[in-house]
This record gives sequence, structure tokens and C-alpha cells, in this order.
Amino acid sequence: MSQHASGSSIESVLHETRKFPPAAGFSKSAHMGSMEQYRREYERSIRDPEGFWGEVAGELDWFTKWAKVLDWKAPDAKWFVGGKTNICHNCVDRQVEAGFGAEPAIIWEGEPTGSGGPEVRRISYADLKRDVSRMANVLRSLGVGKGDIVTIYMPMVPELAVAMLACARIGAPHSIIFGGFSAQAIADRVVDAGSRVIITADGGWRRGQIVPLKENVDAACTQTDLIDHVIVLERTGQQIAWHHAPSPANGSKRDHWWHDLVQAASDECACEPMDAEDLLFVLYTSGTTGKPKGIMHTTGGYMVHTYLTSKITFDLHPGIGQVYWCTADIGWITGHSYIVYGVLPNRVPTVMYEGAPNWPGADRFWDIVERHKVTQFYTAPTAIRAFMKWGDEHPKKHDLSSLRVLGTVGEPINPEAWMWYHKVIGGEKCPIVDTWWQTETGGHMITPLPGCTATKPGSCTLPFFGVDAAIVDEQGNERGPNEGGLLAIRKPWPSMLRGILGDRERFIATYWSDIVTKDGTRYYKAGDGARRDEDGYFWVMGRIDDVINVSGHRLGTMEVESALVSHDAVVEAAVVGMPHEIKGTGIAAFCTLAPGFAADDALREALRKHVAGEIGAIAKPDMIRFTDALPKTRSGKIMRRLLRDIAEGKEQAGDTTTLEDLSVLAKLRESKES
Ligand code: PRX
Repeated sequence: MSQHASGSSIESVLHETRKFPPAAGFSKSAHMGSMEQYRREYERSIRDPEGFWGEVAGELDWFTKWAKVLDWKAPDAKWFVGGKTNICHNCVDRQVEAGFGAEPAIIWEGEPTGSGGPEVRRISYADLKRDVSRMANVLRSLGVGKGDIVTIYMPMVPELAVAMLACARIGAPHSIIFGGFSAQAIADRVVDAGSRVIITADGGWRRGQIVPLKENVDAACTQTDLIDHVIVLERTGQQIAWHHAPSPANGSKRDHWWHDLVQAASDECACEPMDAEDLLFVLYTSGTTGKPKGIMHTTGGYMVHTYLTSKITFDLHPGIGQVYWCTADIGWITGHSYIVYGVLPNRVPTVMYEGAPNWPGADRFWDIVERHKVTQFYTAPTAIRAFMKWGDEHPKKHDLSSLRVLGTVGEPINPEAWMWYHKVIGGEKCPIVDTWWQTETGGHMITPLPGCTATKPGSCTLPFFGVDAAIVDEQGNERGPNEGGLLAIRKPWPSMLRGILGDRERFIATYWSDIVTKDGTRYYKAGDGARRDEDGYFWVMGRIDDVINVSGHRLGTMEVESALVSHDAVVEAAVVGMPHEIKGTGIAAFCTLAPGFAADDALREALRKHVAGEIGAIAKPDMIRFTDALPKTRSGKIMRRLLRDIAEGKEQAGDTTTLEDLSVLAKLRESKES
């Protein structure tokens, strides 16, 4: 089992077995008021998933009701078969039609803080409907139709939400690329998705600097001639190159200002009736091998699952002044599901913040919580560890008494960080929901429910409704209490991935082939190692494959290796995760060099830069070691386990009986970074 999840190894979590009961006074008003209620509902959701999810779907609007809730033939699920709806309608129009058009849908704050304080925009549901409709009409006028994938590469500004909802409105699936990814990463994804339109911005603000988004898009466009149109939002006002060149496809201009296009567009645009199983979006995520894969999510099931999990996990209630804030970037699944699609249908305003947590000061997040009176706060363990390091004085400067529920996601949370979050941010009164899920699962899968589940620091506790999670071996046999095993999901759930774009085989091989019971039943393999304790609580230990979780951002070690060997100096590279105080997992790279290259710090820096150019800054190795040879088995496989031991600084490397050349090991130990 992988040891990537440094802070949450079994040893460390076993020390903290304290149980925190549901917060006093919380349960009365919570959606899920008691464990009995949870157990009853959970049991029903597993016994009668169609009844359960059909009822939930009935809380949302459909243009045509489904004929059947679920059609399942592993690995293919169809949810709400025959149903027609539109998620944009449920996020926006539904609220306006119900008379809540004037209420805030999005509360946005920009990063720069001028003399008058930060720029804040409150966008009502009616504003959102107008802006989304205009952008939807713009997309149509550029030839985007139902099923055409639109690429979005934007900063965290309201127009990003507008762009994605506009796509959903006309049935054009979006492919959002996190603004930290490189030109190369954009080009790869554009080509894979066959995308002809990109929506971007001149730049975005991050830690006082401008992220050159348009420049990256321009560079990506030199690698493919697919792109007919680039829509550019003016955010920073800096100089950018402008491409007037007519598109070979239709003779139009390539670059367009967002503001010019929307000005000319009508603000009336009916929502396209979408089949429940029509593609809503593609989101690229890293796997064990090759380039990132385009995870496909469809309309109906994703909408219902993200709506319900938002409501229950964060205990959202409309109309009582709640303000919900998820600090993720919309470029990741967390932002898709829990900034936009799951939250807006619940009619609780969602906060969007553009920039860094420590700009201009280390208290920026707490300042935002205080000024906007945030009630639900959702962030990543890596951020919590950074806050801990920056010191208690920053949160203590602010009134955080509005907070009711705290959430974490993205990687195992170490009990120390959990306790700090609980005490310093939550004032010991806020339930912590440690939500386990993945890009592939679309929504929460295992999580405590506030006011209901007693929590244990480091455990994501119990499965959400309808989620049949288990710890199993490769034959699907359930493991006993506290025995480690594979985290599997045994039954379909509404927001499950429907496939990998253009790669059916990889979809089946990655998720559906490794856990098969004696009678041939296939379980979904999450790729995480975990155990269940004597209370049935889940403890996720980390990835069991070559995927690493760096600051909660998912990367494939092979991706980083490919980026390294694409540099002239590197002949061979092996990348492993290593414990990192803030990031959880850092990146350790071992490289052998081509003749004539000096193994020095200048080369290390050049390689870091190169990886940033190939993938993005998040993939820069934290440690690079140069070596004459990599440790390999006699059959030529790189012994990553050994490299992990070395990266961790373990004196005794594990079993080396199959190592081909033991001297490699000694040399590696000497190859310390200067
Ligand atoms: O290893 C698990 C970890 O993040 C992986 C999924 O990464 P990604 O698709 O990028 O989605 C992250 C946001 C949903 C999982 O396989 N992970 C996510 N949440 C948790 C977690 N590990 C432990 N505890 C969690 N709460």
C-alpha cells in the first residue's frame, strides 16, 4: 500500500481516537438531525435507490419527467432515463421564477485591495440569468451548438460561472482548465476534446501578480489549428497580443472581447431541454498512465447528486441568511460541484474569491469570512496546514462567529490539522465535514453530516445516501475491521462518471477491471487504500496507484516523468511522492542525465521551469536528484517503493532482493540535493 498520505498514516491516526459528538444545538435545525434518521434513510437509499433518488430528483425542475430512475449494466449507468431538464435552469431560472430574482446568487471578491478595500460584486439570480443568457446567445452566434465542447480557461471571476452556465444552457459541454496549467496542457486538452472555442481573460490576479492567461492560450493555439474563436474577458487591462487573423474555417476573426460580444447579444435565451444522460462537462484529471483523461459527467444524475450533497453535507437552508464559501478553484471538480452546480439550486449565496489566501496578508480568508458573514466554509487540508504555520494570530484578528459548518476535501487530513481547524477556526462549535470523493464520483461519497455524525479527526466517517462503499480485496471480499484494503463502490450512484472521453477501454481498465467478485460482479475501484474501524468509519490512507496528491491537486507521476524526459538533459526519470509539511505530498524526481550536462543547481532550476512549462507550476518537483542509474528489478521495472523510501530519508530501504544492481542504491543515497 502506498505511503503517499504522509500525515495520515495509520500510525498517526490511531493516536487520535477521540470522538466528537454532533455540535450541541445544531441537530434540531439540521436536515439530518440524528443518527437514527441517517441510518433509516441510508438503509432505504441502498435498498430502494430508485425510490430514494426519484424523490430527490422531484425537488428539482424537469421539462419531461423520467420514465425510469436507473438503468444499470456495469459499468454503464443511466439515471433518470428519458427525463429532460437543464441544470442552468435549476441553478438560475428556477430561483427567478419562484420570485427570488433579487437575492444574491454569487458574492464575488477580487484579489486586489485598493484604498477603498477589495472589489466586491453581488450578482443576483436575475443578473445571472441576464448575463448567462447573453453569453449563451454569443456562443450560439459563434456557431456553438448542442454537444460542441467549449474550453474555458479563466480566473476566478463571476464570468467564469457565467461561461459555464451559458454552456449548460445551450447544451454545449464545457471543459474547464485550471488557470495554473500551462499552454501545453491547454493544447493537449483542446485537441483531445476537439474544442473550437476557448473562453479566457487577459489575465487574472494571484498574489499581486498577473497570471498571463491569454498569452498561454495564444501559445496553445500555435500547436493546433482547431481553435476558431477566442473570447477574451478584460480583467486586468494589461497589454495582450490580439489575433485578427480570419479563421480558416469560417472566415471570422479569432479573438473577440467578451464585452463587445455580450453588448450585441439578446438577454433572452431559452434553456435547451437536455436529456438526463446528455454530456454536461468534461474535466481532465490525472491517472496512472499517459496524458490526463477527460472524465465525462452527464446532466441529470450529476445535478441531483450535487444538489442533495450540497444541501445535506453543508446543511444549506435558503432564506435564513446563510453564506456558503468553498475556496477551491472552479477549474477543479470541487469548484464545479460545490461552488456552482450543487450550491445554486439550493438558493444559498456562493462566495467566489479570485486570489491567494495570503494576499495582501495571511488573514485574507478570515477577513472574507468576517466581512461576508460566511456560514459554511469548505477548504483543503493543505490550506489548513499553511494557516497553522502562519500562526493563530491571523484568524484571531477576526470575528469568525458566523461560521456553522467547516469542510475539508482533497486529501487525507492529519489529526493535528483537524484539531486546529476545529479549535481555532470553528471555536469548537462547528462540525467538520471531511468529505471523501473524486473527480470521477462527481459529488460527495463518504462524509459526516453536520448535526448527525459524531466525527473522529482524520476519518471521513460514513457513506452518503445511496453510496455503497466498502473495503475489499480484489475478489470483492469485504475486509474486517481495521484491515486495510481497496476502497470500492459496489452500486451505481447518480453523479458517477459515465466514461473517459474517447477512451472506453481505459475507462473499463482503470475503474472496472480490478475488483471482480466470484460471480463476475464488477465494483468501482476508487484507487485509494483505506480501512474501516470498529464503528464502520472509513479512514482513507491515500492512493494505491501512481497518482499523487500534491496540495490536494491530483498529478500522475508518469506525467511529471514525461515532462522531465522531454528536456534534452534527461535520459530517464522516476517520480515519486514524498511527505511534505504543507503540501501533504511533495514531488521527488530522480533523473539520469545525457552526456555533457552538469548535475548542478542551475540544471535543477531549468528542469523545474521546464516541468512548469509542460504541465503547470503545481507539478514542479520539490526535490530533484541526479543519479547514474535508477534502481530496477531484474525485469527492468523501476523500484518506486525504494525511491519513496529514499525520498522520505528512510535509512533502511525496504526489500531489495529483486534489485538488479545494489550499488545503484548506495549511489542514490549519496546523490543528495545540494
Ligand atoms: O486520494 C483521494 C483524495 O483525492 C483523490 C481524488 O482527487 P481528485 O479527483 O482531484 O478530487 C479531489 C476533490 C474531490 C482521492 O482518490 N481525497 C479526496 N478527498 C479526500 C481524499 N483523501 C482523503 N480524505 C478526503 N476527504
